[in-house]
Amino acid sequence: MKRTIYIFLAALFLFVQPICAQSYHEQYRPQIHFSPKEHWMNDPNGMVYYNGVYHLFFQYYPGASVWGPMHWGHATSTDLMHWKQEPVALYPDSLGYIFSGSVVVDKKNTSGFGVNGKPPLVAIFTQHDTAGERAHTNTFQNQSIAYSNNAGKTWIKYKNNPVLKNPGISDFRDPKVMWYDEGSKWIMTLAVKDHIAFYSSPDLKSWTLESEFGKEIGAHGGVWECPDLISFDDNGKQVWALIVNINPGGPNGGSATQYFIGDFDGKTFTTSGNNIKWLDYGPDEYAGVTWSNTDNRKIFLGWMSNWSYAQVVPTQAWRSAATLPRNLSLVHVGSDIFISSKPVVELNNISFNLQSLQNFTFNKAFDLSQQMNNIQLPCKLDLNVQDAKSFSIVFSNDKNEAIVVGYDEAQKRYYINRAKSGETNFEKSFNLERTAPRISNAKNIYLTIIADVSSIELFADDGLSVMTEIYFPSKPFDTIQLQTEESIKVDNLSFTGLKGIWR
Ligand code: FRU
Repeated sequence: MKRTIYIFLAALFLFVQPICAQSYHEQYRPQIHFSPKEHWMNDPNGMVYYNGVYHLFFQYYPGASVWGPMHWGHATSTDLMHWKQEPVALYPDSLGYIFSGSVVVDKKNTSGFGVNGKPPLVAIFTQHDTAGERAHTNTFQNQSIAYSNNAGKTWIKYKNNPVLKNPGISDFRDPKVMWYDEGSKWIMTLAVKDHIAFYSSPDLKSWTLESEFGKEIGAHGGVWECPDLISFDDNGKQVWALIVNINPGGPNGGSATQYFIGDFDGKTFTTSGNNIKWLDYGPDEYAGVTWSNTDNRKIFLGWMSNWSYAQVVPTQAWRSAATLPRNLSLVHVGSDIFISSKPVVELNNISFNLQSLQNFTFNKAFDLSQQMNNIQLPCKLDLNVQDAKSFSIVFSNDKNEAIVVGYDEAQKRYYINRAKSGETNFEKSFNLERTAPRISNAKNIYLTIIADVSSIELFADDGLSVMTEIYFPSKPFDTIQLQTEESIKVDNLSFTGLKGIWR
């Protein structure tokens, strides 16, 4: 009898386990962030909004859960929250791997790829030729294009690729293309080792160098990658921002995203500020750029990992996820201008179980798990406290594992500490406390925190100081506590449950 029960349980386990795995419920699997069903992913690529669908292509190796011959994976969404993984969009060929790049809607059919009066989608990407790299040429990264006449489902590579040949610089990649209406031309923003090169084109096929930017400005602790040039309407004035990812050399080590605020005249980008600005100070947002064809909305999404350890994090079936899509806007602080990032409003589509408490004071500790019902991750926390005093928010489980998010008033900075968050020893720097300066001068502190089962995103002061970190607890966190050595007056504390996107 006992034996029959064992056999039955074993059979049940074997049956149930693949179903769980298939439905994105393995240990550590992000529940509200996109991750590939299986295998390796890094940068988001070719993000474009077309016919009511958000396309997310991504650096993908379908052969293993570590980096390898790069393809463009593909996923689609109609609400930026729920994703459907589609067949691989672009495969490596004789010109090389398919590295990062962008997709545009060619509304005027400047490329001539369109059929039946419908605009084609055109992908512009780097081809990385490993044979050339091994032979120590310095011309192994070139820009190619491909087009789609069925809204991104399938792609045809252009027969005269590459369209922009390498002038002899080993790092020459990650084209982000946009239509520059004032000059009726395409502008390509390209990362070239330690600077950005701007090229222009009438048809996406022939490109002319317009200018270079950045050799002596900004952070230079690593190679510049994955840029993006975007413009904002700042109270009637057009203000430009140039996003430049860098690896290593981020503010907390490894990969990170810096940006410059300035002006672009169709040829040249200029900036007046000297301070280095980071879109996200945490270690786990990289290669972030924005969706194209979204009009005035600027929607940003990054790869939620860091080249320092991305290939050894303890997930096996898949490796890496994307950050939440974030809405970018400009904020003036004194005489300076910053970018603020906040989760997109579509987050409301997966929100439930909202509970709020107003106007209370706490000393030492305040346990949400005791004051509210059904506290579990994924969730969103909004906290508005009076006066900037030191406090922390601790997410923990009964295995004594915790991730701590806090504000340190003496240092005027935010921090996240994952030293005791579970598995950390796959890389020695993983357990270091990371910090972000407080940029805002506002009296009150206003935080939004998005906690998934294996990541945390902090949006402080309405998105002025942002941090993203991943973590790997042995059991999901199910307790949330506010802690302080002071007496803290809370104007508002809201907990919102977030429904998993894979159900
Ligand atoms: C950034 C990056 C890009 C490159 C791609 C290769 O993470 O190194 O510069 O195109 O990844 O996968």
